Amino acid sequence: MCGIIGVLGEHEAAPLMVEALKRLEYRGYDSAGIATVHQGRLDRRRAVGKLVNLSDLLVHEPLAGKAGIGHTRWATHGAPTVANAHPHRAGGVAVVHNGIIENFRELREELTAQGAAFHTETDTETVVLLTERHMAEGMTPAEAAEATIRRLTGAFALCFLFDGEEDLLICARQGSPLAIGHGEGEMFVGSDAIALAPLTDRITYLEEGDRAVITRSGAEIFDAAGRRANRAVTQIQIGAARIDKAGHKHFMAKEIAEQPGVIGAALDHYLTDAGIAMPGLDFAECDRLVMVACGTASYACMVAKYWFEQLAGLPVDVDIASEFRYREPPLSPGSWSVFVSQSGETADTLAALRYTRDRVAKVVSVVNVATSSIARESDVALPILAGVEVSVASTKGFTCQLTVLALMALKAAVDRGRMDAGQLAAHLGHLRSLPGLMNHALLLSNDVARIAADLAEAQDILFLGRGPMYPLALEGALKLKEISYIHAEGYASGELKHGPIALIDQHVPVVVLAPRDALYEKTVSNMQEVMARHGKVLLISDAEGVEEAGGGVWRSLTLPRIEPWLAPVLYALPAQMLAYHTAIAKGTDVDQPRNLAKSVTVE
Ligand code: F6R
Repeated sequence: MCGIIGVLGEHEAAPLMVEALKRLEYRGYDSAGIATVHQGRLDRRRAVGKLVNLSDLLVHEPLAGKAGIGHTRWATHGAPTVANAHPHRAGGVAVVHNGIIENFRELREELTAQGAAFHTETDTETVVLLTERHMAEGMTPAEAAEATIRRLTGAFALCFLFDGEEDLLICARQGSPLAIGHGEGEMFVGSDAIALAPLTDRITYLEEGDRAVITRSGAEIFDAAGRRANRAVTQIQIGAARIDKAGHKHFMAKEIAEQPGVIGAALDHYLTDAGIAMPGLDFAECDRLVMVACGTASYACMVAKYWFEQLAGLPVDVDIASEFRYREPPLSPGSWSVFVSQSGETADTLAALRYTRDRVAKVVSVVNVATSSIARESDVALPILAGVEVSVASTKGFTCQLTVLALMALKAAVDRGRMDAGQLAAHLGHLRSLPGLMNHALLLSNDVARIAADLAEAQDILFLGRGPMYPLALEGALKLKEISYIHAEGYASGELKHGPIALIDQHVPVVVLAPRDALYEKTVSNMQEVMARHGKVLLISDAEGVEEAGGGVWRSLTLPRIEPWLAPVLYALPAQMLAYHTAIAKGTDVDQPRNLAKSVTVE
């Protein structure tokens, strides 16, 4: 993970870099630092914790200079300490790094044997020490950086700054994204276009294996074989304004509340008079879907599997990207691969996409960030149009993913002759009702907050669901654990008596997600089994469901009635609100929970 920025500017670099790092903080917030060259002298400032600590440090110890590099860290090798914070420096070389240098142990041994002294526990320090050694042997900065990069294995993005060089940055992309920004007499480097948006709208995305030698007059780019490479400059349209909380206490609260609006906008985008507009997708040509994602996005895929199979009769395999990428699964040439990712930069998902590239008929992605690597490397990229999602815990990203996947499933049903115009119109009508139903669900916030005050006392919480509500049980548990730090697990209701029921006693709350659908009776039986063992059941259902379950449940939340197949989209809201209010009750950092980052660009 980690975010990188580089500036060769006309003005002071430090404020620009801090502003850019704010936009990159979603990539990690364990520590932050910047280095500049001023009057020929390289210097740096670093601070542990959130970026605000670096900003405070810079008030007392400002850093002058118009050339600089900066970094926000998600710790991989070495604890979040000042010593381990980037930029790393050895002699006249400073570097910021995103990714992992896999052969750092071997390099460390080699450098140590040659007398180099290490001051950090990071893999990155080998990069600066190796570069310094090459410069001591008489190489120019560009030659030394190149010689160093050739020794490195792993996935990384690097940006180098050199003592005495106020018009030079060298950067490299191998496995981790990096973009170059073109200004007027200024040049920039960033982990993504979002970071560069306030500085320029003209971006060059480096390709795998690229290195770039950057001065204020432009960038010379070389491919992995060392040949000059022409990479296009693209005009991006990303708002330069920083997103604010719009009066909410947390980004997560704002993003939960935005869901009716963004889902309405996504539906407007894809629905035309002619039906569902998804150019390039004719599901009549596809015999199987292979859906791959991580975390919350993988749960969206699991829900969509029920939809594609039940509505369109299209077989679907779902996999988590970190397993898929190394398993070497055989793929049939008539299948399509589908990658779901909010950020579009998740390293495992991107690697999985590349694995399928020449093995399937079509590579499709469902992404929020339209300029992301996953979007750019797909044959067809479908935007989910959730708007910027800042909170680390995904909320509107998840429901917008589900909305686009629901539309895809309906299109697949039509393309494959499984659904006539009348049936499609009825299903689209149900989808259209989602924003209104979600507005009703949001009104439960105060009820949820009261329940959460009790949940906050629990050590373990279980979530149960059946059919497409099973992946939602997984999502509810993930959301709760990532922001409240309470241990939670999601189970398919029918699995309970195959083991997890042993966990049930009067101290374990069990959240049962059970709309009144064809499987409702079965889920209620499982719920009775929990209550017979003194488990505390929180039933989330519609009015009929709550009434039919009768007394005995610990608490209940009543949602409006919804077409059963779309229930996971609506029921996601109380699950998100439960996590949010439980985290508030526990006093945790809702938007930036410990140990996490928004975009997981290391495997
Ligand atoms: C959880 C969460 C993560 C992400 C996962 C994939 O709230 O947000 O589990 O869903 O890291 O990220 P993307 O969707 O960016 O590929």
